[in-house]
Amino acid sequence: MRFTVAIDGPAAAGKGTIGRAVAQRFGLAYLDTGLLYRAVGALVAGGADPVGAARFLRAEDLQRPDLRSAEAGQAASRVAAMAAVRAALVDFQRAFARREGGAVLDGRDIGTVICPEAEVKLFVTASDAVRARRRWLELRTADPALTEAAVLADLRARDARDAERAAAPLRAAADAVLLDTTELTIDAAVDKAVRATEQRIGQGRG
Ligand code: CDP
Repeated sequence: MRFTVAIDGPAAAGKGTIGRAVAQRFGLAYLDTGLLYRAVGALVAGGADPVGAARFLRAEDLQRPDLRSAEAGQAASRVAAMAAVRAALVDFQRAFARREGGAVLDGRDIGTVICPEAEVKLFVTASDAVRARRRWLELRTADPALTEAAVLADLRARDARDAERAAAPLRAAADAVLLDTTELTIDAAVDKAVRATEQRIGQGRG
């Protein structure tokens, strides 16, 4: 069975939580594509060539402990604006999306560029304030000096860069289901995503 769930949306909207839950519920493989750009960004910050880093990305590069930080997010969004970096990461993501057994991918361009044929497309959003609060709660243990205002500024800067770039900008596919999680608990958001997937998976499996 080939079955792809494409989850896109701005920073810290809940894509990862929803993606992992949908993958687990239906026994699909899961890929956080943001991690690829975060790893390339970290390698470039260490002096690597961006396209070389993307082309020869290794599994262990994705395990670096510092990839979740706000700095790594900014570095990711800078290399993610480079068309040649994106191009170097396309084949891996496409193969993952169409792997036997089905897959969930979350990112910015999954439903528009990586897998326009995805059976399920979700565009997950939430208000800026709610996204900043959630990300701040996630990061503050590792970085007690971080303020919520700094997280908000970071998310806004990344969203603007991601939406305004020429190469695969952040936008909802025309056929994506919009999922605004501002007022939703995690369970309620996951529930909506599971239902959207359920409607299609019966048709895909068989
Ligand atoms: O977790 P969060 O939503 O904050 O970010 P992420 O998904 O880890 O992505 C980090 C950065 O990588 C984003 O700000 C984008 O610039 C870039 N990215 C992208 O351009 N395309 C993707 N498919 C995934 C991430």
